[in-house]
Amino acid sequence: MISLAKRTTKIDSSGIRKVFALAAKMENPINLSIGQPHFDVPEDIKETAIAAIRAGKNSYTQTAGLDEFREKIKRQYVHRGLDLGDVLITSGVSGGILLAFLAVLDEGDEIIIPDPFFVMYKHLANFIGARPVYLDTYPDFQPNPEKLEKLITPRTKAILINSPCNPTGVIFTKEMLQAATKIAEKHGLLIISDEIYEPFLYDQDTLQSPAEFYPYTLILSGFSKSVAMTGWRLGYAYGPKDIVAAMINIQMYSFVCAPSFAQHAGMTALDIDLSPTRADYRRKRDLIYNGLKDRFHVVRPGGAFYIFPEAPNGDGDEFVRQAIENNLLVVPGSVFSERKTHFRISFAAEDHTIERGIEVLNRMADATH
Ligand SMILES: Cc1ncc(COP(=O)(O)O)c(C=O)c1O
Repeated sequence: MISLAKRTTKIDSSGIRKVFALAAKMENPINLSIGQPHFDVPEDIKETAIAAIRAGKNSYTQTAGLDEFREKIKRQYVHRGLDLGDVLITSGVSGGILLAFLAVLDEGDEIIIPDPFFVMYKHLANFIGARPVYLDTYPDFQPNPEKLEKLITPRTKAILINSPCNPTGVIFTKEMLQAATKIAEKHGLLIISDEIYEPFLYDQDTLQSPAEFYPYTLILSGFSKSVAMTGWRLGYAYGPKDIVAAMINIQMYSFVCAPSFAQHAGMTALDIDLSPTRADYRRKRDLIYNGLKDRFHVVRPGGAFYIFPEAPNGDGDEFVRQAIENNLLVVPGSVFSERKTHFRISFAAEDHTIERGIEVLNRMADATH
């Protein structure tokens, strides 16, 4: 037997593994833990994918993706006044995050990540030997620009923005984004903006991107959430030419290209009207928020499909263990944060599942007080 590469020890999945180990024993759980929409891929998109496969469009595409698809994505941003550079089609946003980190961060370089955060940022940064530097955003989950600036060192290369945010559902304010971009400009930093939840906005029509204030921004987005194509592995990066060119070089010798049928289908996905999804999920957001607000400290999510309440006893790990005993599956906040005081609920579920979840949670809260 050989010893595994040291970098494998940098990825700690023990927290989430513990939850899954407990969850495996559950029968027919009330499952509010899932990070993907509860609906299937729209039929038009499936038809395009099937037609592409039948038409023999099954070979490698160019490393950067189909030109027609890249141009279509870029046109949509330019139409909004965002002319940042080039588009690269990636294997999911996850693929985009990995390529961006590999392209930008040397060993020992720092990336500032608002906490709580999407799990992958932390582990991928550690995995490649970079240092994730956390910007605590509790209790309202809005990053504070003064605190942000204090975290900058000569090793800082990038600031990560994820709005709407997984796991909190919070949308960062315009003032915060403007302040963050000013700081990035002053210190010559890249902003990496993960906008995968852009279609899920409940109190506003369009998402403010930091790229509106600062063109040295790399936007990452994709199709796993908007049209539920999680298993098709499709996303894109849009940003400064030098960064995208470096990412394309790394893709050439790693992912090679994003799945070709998915790229063809992605062109159809860009034309899908997402307003019915948005209305449906807005209703679910109201259902969960109104159902919990009287007994939990909770911030009303403006987007995504998560809500991140504080555990009544202040211990999210213990609270989730108890929830699982009550047949309810949610995720401890410690998976997404340096703190363990909260827990994440996904409301990408049928209404009756959400209602059953609310009932159990309120019962648990009453028992704690
Ligand atoms: C904030 C965020 N970014 C990226 C991803 C990864 O998405 P993809 O399926 O496109 O790799 C997720 C998935 O949960 C996410 O929540």
